[in-house]
Amino acid sequence: MAIKYISDPYFVEQVKDKKVLLRVDFNVPLKKDGVEISDPTRIDEALPTLKYLLEKGAKKVVVMSHFGRPNGEVNKKYSLLPVANYLAEKLQESVVLTETALDRGIKTLLNLNEARVILLENLRFHPEEEKNDREFARELSKYGDLFVFEAFGAAHRKHASTYEINVIFKNKAFGGFLLEKEVNAMEKIVNHPKAPFMAIVGGAKVSDKIKIIERLLVLVEKLFIGGAMAYPFLKAEGKTVGKSLCSDDDVLLAKKILALPSAKNKLVLPLDHVVSETLDGKPKVIDQIDIPESLIGLDIGPRTLAHYGDFLKRAETVLWNGPMGLFENEHYSQGTFGVAKILSESSAYTVVGGGDSVSALKKSGREDKISHVSTGGGASLEFIEEGTLPGIQALKFGLN
Ligand code: 3PG
Ligand code: MG
Repeated sequence: MAIKYISDPYFVEQVKDKKVLLRVDFNVPLKKDGVEISDPTRIDEALPTLKYLLEKGAKKVVVMSHFGRPNGEVNKKYSLLPVANYLAEKLQESVVLTETALDRGIKTLLNLNEARVILLENLRFHPEEEKNDREFARELSKYGDLFVFEAFGAAHRKHASTYEINVIFKNKAFGGFLLEKEVNAMEKIVNHPKAPFMAIVGGAKVSDKIKIIERLLVLVEKLFIGGAMAYPFLKAEGKTVGKSLCSDDDVLLAKKILALPSAKNKLVLPLDHVVSETLDGKPKVIDQIDIPESLIGLDIGPRTLAHYGDFLKRAETVLWNGPMGLFENEHYSQGTFGVAKILSESSAYTVVGGGDSVSALKKSGREDKISHVSTGGGASLEFIEEGTLPGIQALKFGLN
């Protein structure tokens, strides 16, 4: 069953004078002051949908999102107020933030002419949200004649506002523009990547990425490993890793992966490293695979980067997830920024997913040169692992 999107002319016929309930993922990071948004990408990316709904004559748009992890309790620290302010500024419209998602005043607001945009306070202030509670979803569903699901970043969660509600709205549930973009990019990677398909996976732990590595090994021609998770792989191959981050459990997992028939001739590991004696010590490049006893590996070295780059020249599809080193420290950022540069100069179809690699990419100022930058960290990983996501399945199922 195909998803119906708001880009469908049928939706345009439907939306005029209707109340639209819109589920977005406005779970954006805040600056230390707890007031200002440090990266508004997720909001910016959903703005075209919001503007479109208003332009096409929706009577009300009731926007809902989770924010952080307040564990089912009201906690002002997790209020959507900063988001409401940002949204009002961007839309040049007043945005009413409700007291709670189930506020009694909402029904009154829905009948008033002013305030076309209503933002429900954090859905996760209600324990029912994460329990995928049907009654909670039903209460929320009363706010809209139509439902638009735009929360790709939360579509891996089987929650009331991402799962059950899609089912309740059935043929009145549609995917938004951002959801459409994300699903198309992910499906391209998973179902019909143009060969050669290569992937770069980094990050701290093998255990965090084991499922995606196993899945990718089936799909790709080459899989390049970077970040601290390279060390368990090297250790599993009998190399020394010095004082680098490397748990015994991760070494076992790495051994398991290396023994897979699908890993043969595909997994590519670092040839050299940027190391230091302490985390904030002086950086040094060592042009060898083995890391001496007293040193910590903190980034891939220049020879590794060039080696990966040589392979990547041939790629037609590239997926990147996870940084190559401790990129927050500029001494150990060359590997990660180097990968961003290689991808930005590639003519392949390039997809970057995962919170850390996306923020590194943004820091490098090269995100415009990437074919698709996902707004879903966990969601994009899980989509590749599973081939779909619960929220997306519910949206399809609801249309039966
Ligand atoms: C995210 O940022 O990963 C999504 O918004 C989902 O949030 P969660 O990981 O707290 O469920
Ligand atoms: Mg998450």
